[in-house]
Amino acid sequence: MIIQFLFIGLPYAAIAAVVIGTYYRLTRKEYTVSSLSSQFLESTFLKWGSVPWHLGILVIFIGHLVPFLLPDLWADLVKHRPILIALEAVGFVAGVMCVLGLVVLIIRRIFTSTLQLVTKPLDFVVYVLLLSQILLGLVTAYSYRYGSVWAPGTVYAYLYGILRLSPDMTYVQDMPFVIQAHIALAWVILMLIPFTRLIHMFSIPLEYLFRLPQKVVWTNEVRWNRRSERAQYMESRRYFFRGVAGVTGAAGLLSFGVLEKSGHYFQGQTLDDAKEATLLEKRLKRMKLTAEEKSYELERLKNDAIFIADLKELQPATGKYFIDYEMRPALAFRDAKGLPNLLSAKCTHLGCTVGKDVDGQGRIVCPCHVSYFDIGTGVPQAGSPTEIPLEHIAWHLRATDGTIVAHGTPDGTVATTAAYDAAKSETYKVFIIKSKGVTVA
Ligand code: FES
Repeated sequence: MIIQFLFIGLPYAAIAAVVIGTYYRLTRKEYTVSSLSSQFLESTFLKWGSVPWHLGILVIFIGHLVPFLLPDLWADLVKHRPILIALEAVGFVAGVMCVLGLVVLIIRRIFTSTLQLVTKPLDFVVYVLLLSQILLGLVTAYSYRYGSVWAPGTVYAYLYGILRLSPDMTYVQDMPFVIQAHIALAWVILMLIPFTRLIHMFSIPLEYLFRLPQKVVWTNEVRWNRRSERAQYMESRRYFFRGVAGVTGAAGLLSFGVLEKSGHYFQGQTLDDAKEATLLEKRLKRMKLTAEEKSYELERLKNDAIFIADLKELQPATGKYFIDYEMRPALAFRDAKGLPNLLSAKCTHLGCTVGKDVDGQGRIVCPCHVSYFDIGTGVPQAGSPTEIPLEHIAWHLRATDGTIVAHGTPDGTVATTAAYDAAKSETYKVFIIKSKGVTVA
């Protein structure tokens, strides 16, 4: 329920708030669209905080936007390892710049008495949220490498679903907590834009570039004597801003093509009967899969033990996939003593399904980012992107009359009962059990 709220309800609430709230601020309260500059009150620390923060966040924003708008180009780029490492490094450095800049800005607000008078509690809320968001991003970048590779197929696929009004949170619901928190906090920050100083991102003083030059008459004699120098400076600044506007305009034209393609992408195409039939078939298939998934869920809710295989089917070198009580993929092997060995097949890195084939060193591999797991202990090999072992799944081995002859627990312990008879092992059946509330006879 909370997951549904965070990844479906919250996004739409945030989008509605930012569209309606920003429209209201821009049209009804246009003179409040600003971050209330405090440069006149304190400028030294502002420079050391504001510049790294704005540079860093601009780089991060572009780094998140490009793969979203140009997924194919991005995929082509990041498949080259040197480019991937360079992009990740630039993003990480930009994140560190943001953190340093924000820390300076927060300290400046706390310790400058003149600033305290113009600082609202909501300003601190914004600072803390932004700092938390950047820190979560840095932890994600460091712990779940490489986001440039896995995010387009997961997080961005989820975002496309939100924008197409067909949200699919399966892309993100099994992700690690840090990544989920990063996504959810992004929606919260988006929602706050119209109500906080963040609104200033929409105040672009374009008219400044085209208004008539203004003549400033100084009554101060020293300044009067320096007027031509000052006038030249103002003029050169105007040319600089015009240059920036020209470059931005060219970039805008360039991105028009991209936006047009994106428009087609989100709008979809006009379908003839054949295409519509194909689409319907796909939907039907998806609905059947959902129904099948729900029937598995129901079976697991109603039963304390579920048959998954005859013992004779299980092999030491190739696992058999099944669905565990948590509705995750899992693998069943036969160990050296001829007993079952059941492991979760959900990779502890980012949730991909681990392969079923055991290599010469007794390991199974997750193909997504190459994590090797020991098949006996579930522990990942050193150097894998994850350090968390695969879980053992609790099981019972039963004779044909239902007597329990052996069992395995979630901590990996395996034991046989007095009824176990190795000679009859080929007739035994393997059941997964609810780890709580089921006792071993
Ligand atoms: S999901 Fe990354 S290694 Fe498995």
